[in-house]
Amino acid sequence: MAVIDASGVRYSYPDGTLAVDGVDVTVEAGERVALLGPNGAGKSTLLQLLGGLLDPDAGTVRYFGETTDADTVRDRLSVLTQNPADYLFNPTVREDLAYGPNQLALTEDEVDRRVERIADRLDLDGLLSKPPFRLSGGQQRRAALASALTVEPEVLLLDEPLSNVDAANRATILELLDELADDGATLVISTPDTELVPQVADRVILLDAAGEIAAVGPTRQLLTDTALLADCRLRPPQVVRLFESRFDRPPLTVAEAADRLDER
Ligand SMILES: Nc1ncnc2c1ncn2[C@@H]1O[C@H](COP(=O)(O)OP(=O)(O)OP(=O)(O)O)[C@@H](O)[C@H]1O
Ligand SMILES: [Mg+2]
Repeated sequence: MAVIDASGVRYSYPDGTLAVDGVDVTVEAGERVALLGPNGAGKSTLLQLLGGLLDPDAGTVRYFGETTDADTVRDRLSVLTQNPADYLFNPTVREDLAYGPNQLALTEDEVDRRVERIADRLDLDGLLSKPPFRLSGGQQRRAALASALTVEPEVLLLDEPLSNVDAANRATILELLDELADDGATLVISTPDTELVPQVADRVILLDAAGEIAAVGPTRQLLTDTALLADCRLRPPQVVRLFESRFDRPPLTVAEAADRLDER
């Protein structure tokens, strides 16, 4: 089943900038998809269109094969925009994390349980009573992600969820995203970073600098296509560049490269 089916979606900002130019995107239930493209390609705009935070000037976005009204599926779909401050507006981090689940018909205990669980997972437990604007950049990013996760959505649309995040927290978040995917969640992750893509996505929607789709395909196929990526002002991951002349099917991640070297 397509959880999101966008057809002919176009969007211009009020100043006339055409950010997304007639895009078709289908996301199937349980998929892990990356929206990959250079700065200004329209990833954030497209993510907001897919999440129903922006209304397209032309085209439609259909949810769960049922409706084009995003408001009716708000409890099934979470969007994390690129700016953490969009989610951090309460007096404390705890209240920000509870904000989403408080809109659902949950008991106070259940809301508290969710907040504690996610805060613990994302290493935010010591920060719950702080005002969110007093957090560091990376802490704010994690708090915003936590606020998107406490509603336990079926579909998660995340705009650069790992930017500003240190290595240990990156690993934690990647593990958490894997668990959510294993539990059946659908993940759409926007990033300009080809290194991140193999860790979060099985399929890639590649946008070019003009805001059009340059290609859609399996992660392995797109991330090893140096010419295609160069057309979009991107480069393959470093391990691909290192091994492409040495292996037929170059590894995409350091872990995969280590396995392949051991095999030899
Ligand atoms: N509020 C706005 N008003 C006018 N133009 C905008 C606005 N937001 C974005 N744009 C323009 O729309 C285009 C797409 O921007 P968008 O933020 O979607 O790109 P992106 O792919 O997410 O880039 P990045 O990798 O830098 O996050 C860019 O040309 C940008 O300048
Ligand atoms: Mg962006």
